[in-house]
Amino acid sequence: MNTQEIRSSKRASGARPLVMITAYDVAGAHFADQAGVDILLVGDSLANVVLGHRDTLHVTLDDMVRHVGAVSAASPKAHVVADLPWPTYHEGPDAAVRAAVALVRAGAQSVKLEGGAKRAEVVSAILDAEIPVMGHLGLTPQSVLAMGGYRVQARSPEAAQLLLDDAHALQELGAYSLVLEGVPSSVGAQVTAALEIPTIGIGAGPDTDGQVLVFHDVLGLSLATPAKFVRRYADLGAIMTDAVARFADDVRSGSFPAPEESYGALSTPSSSAQ
Ligand code: KIV
Repeated sequence: MNTQEIRSSKRASGARPLVMITAYDVAGAHFADQAGVDILLVGDSLANVVLGHRDTLHVTLDDMVRHVGAVSAASPKAHVVADLPWPTYHEGPDAAVRAAVALVRAGAQSVKLEGGAKRAEVVSAILDAEIPVMGHLGLTPQSVLAMGGYRVQARSPEAAQLLLDDAHALQELGAYSLVLEGVPSSVGAQVTAALEIPTIGIGAGPDTDGQVLVFHDVLGLSLATPAKFVRRYADLGAIMTDAVARFADDVRSGSFPAPEESYGALSTPSSSAQ
């Protein structure tokens, strides 16, 4: 899917809901792509679920570039969008464009950044460099220190109006879609109805134009307690522990490796003559 196709994917116009999931490596990207998702997000949640940091402020551009490369190595049919990590776009438009270029060179087809009108200058600069931009409003994890924790956003009418203004600003600037995270369902519905570009929700209720979840949450691989909005479709963590425990048992009991899992030597001329 390209950004033009994503841009026109409004459910109100009859499009089917967009499906986005995070991906961080070649195997995850391959299997998610095989499942037919529309968009793979190389999210800066890489920090939490893969690298073990407590927040997304600790993932670097080099980390993101390496993992975008790994996802792109799966040659997915799905669109690949990558998060601009903090603070690559807080240090001015030139730094933001350089970071976006690095992600595109690594294999991303667009970039995502957090924030609305106050990011206007960097959004314009990245779009000027011909790189499509996905916005991200609501609970923006890179603002965890400023927000004083991870809290549902836009609960009051005033805060919902500010979010709506930011959403309009991103659309006018030229963003091709918008992630809405951690907002009341009514706000998800209101912003979605007000915009011509699609919204992709995570904890934003059922009325957005698409949904995104973190790969590790969907598959039961997260170490953290999942948020209220997560639906877990498998418990791969338990399957992994069981499989590795059975391998350990087989090694300790001597039943691994079996003859069919072992190599034989070539016969020497003298031995074959016998
Ligand atoms: O990094 C991430 O996983 C994200 C999603 C939560 C949308 O930005």
